[in-house]
Amino acid sequence: MNAPVSPAEFRTDDGSTPAERFRRLRKTGYEELKDIPGDEPMAFPVMRTIRFLKDPLGVVSERYGRFGRVYRNQNLDGWQVSLIGPEANELVFMNRDKTFSSEQGWGPVLDYVFPRGVMLMDFEEHRIHRKTLSAAFKPEPMKNYLGALQDGIARGIEAWPERLRFYPAIKQLTLDLAATSFLGIPWGPEADRINRAFVAMVAASIGIVRKPVPFTAMWRGVKGRKYMCAFFGREIPKRRGASGDDIFTTICNAEHDDGRLLSDQEIIDHMNFLMMAAHDTLTSSLTSTVYYLGKNPDWQDTVRAEVRGIRAAHGDRIPYEELGAFEKTEWAFKEAMRLNAPVPAIPRRALRDFTLGNMTVPAGTQVGVNPMMTHRLPEIWPEPEKFDPARFSPENSKGRHKYAWVPFGGGAHMCLGLHFAYMQAKAFFFELLDRREIVIDPAYECDFQMFPMPRPRRDGLPIGLRRL
Ligand code: HEM
Repeated sequence: MNAPVSPAEFRTDDGSTPAERFRRLRKTGYEELKDIPGDEPMAFPVMRTIRFLKDPLGVVSERYGRFGRVYRNQNLDGWQVSLIGPEANELVFMNRDKTFSSEQGWGPVLDYVFPRGVMLMDFEEHRIHRKTLSAAFKPEPMKNYLGALQDGIARGIEAWPERLRFYPAIKQLTLDLAATSFLGIPWGPEADRINRAFVAMVAASIGIVRKPVPFTAMWRGVKGRKYMCAFFGREIPKRRGASGDDIFTTICNAEHDDGRLLSDQEIIDHMNFLMMAAHDTLTSSLTSTVYYLGKNPDWQDTVRAEVRGIRAAHGDRIPYEELGAFEKTEWAFKEAMRLNAPVPAIPRRALRDFTLGNMTVPAGTQVGVNPMMTHRLPEIWPEPEKFDPARFSPENSKGRHKYAWVPFGGGAHMCLGLHFAYMQAKAFFFELLDRREIVIDPAYECDFQMFPMPRPRRDGLPIGLRRL
């Protein structure tokens, strides 16, 4: 009944599987890309990578200024082409001719620890799995997660002192919340062990060494993955046929259109991936929002007035149907993600030649769209460095390109957990701003490291959380 889905079943138009195309396509190098403006070859590209990691925004802005919206760049993995701007985002995300492979874009980054996640599938195979997983994001289960999130958030915030480093605190809270809403297990020692294994996997996915060499992040990540796989493996038989209010139990019972359940291995791969997709992105986006609200007390007051109004109308539990009432809260969250896009660059591999503007990029090229830079183009976002949530009001959004703001991607791979992310953010600010005032010294400027995900570079974002 639940045999694994074979990738061979998912052939693209010319009859080949993505893996076959990957092997068939030669990875493009400088020679194939030399008509595209950009970097010249460097003997030690590691220097370029180091410079980039130190100041990604500076480097991308400088290249964009010199070369324009399509440019060639060299890093440790070789040559790739960066595509900047809403038109590029639309071309890649809409992927009308099935030109861009997500599997082959993300594969080199995620394959060791998060193989076979839905984002690492293409075309028909991806469609089938995404549809099955969406069972976990329908209104009924979402209502249940909202209740669990609210309980956990209230408990977590109550325990926070009046001064703390926000980034590690929200990271821990997000992990604890995932134990209940994702896994359906209570906070405690088992959740702690799972959290540790999971954190090791996430660290591995962004580690510099891409092989599990002993004592590297990748080595710890591969061990973490073993632990997680064993946990899920033990639990799956208990969850099948059971009812539960968590994502894991829902996915254990989700059926493909033909009535087939996901196999054990598919569930394990999807769960590992879902937890990864949710964890650092939520941690990053909530950290950025708290920072900007702390730096902009007028906006903090506006959002506080909104959440208190909702509390006055509906009491301490947010009715799921009322999530739309968090209008200003949503603008603030969106604006924070404009400035600090949690996924600053999104990779793909071109399976065939394509043209953008007057540039033709050959098949086999690794390409990346760049929310970080697109979100700062001054012709779309006047005064791009200014935090101004009113940019997202309906009047101010009129006429803006649909792909100018893409923190959740777009098209077939658009974030499946987008509503979950908004819901957790709204539940979080509903509790936080009612009970606490975010206090940040006006002279303090957080140094956000943008890659691989925005986070405070050194200090963990020290803030005051004054009890109200
Ligand atoms: C602020 C929080 C989040 C941000 C900014 C974010 C961002 C993204 C982006 C940019 C993509 C598309 C990547 C691509 O096209 O290659 C994506 C995909 C995905 N995200 Fe999120 N995400 C967030 C939260 C979540 C949460 C909470 C979940 C799960 C509960 C989740 C699950 C997924 C999944 C499953 C995919 C793959 C979808 C597919 O390939 O069909 N994300 N996310």
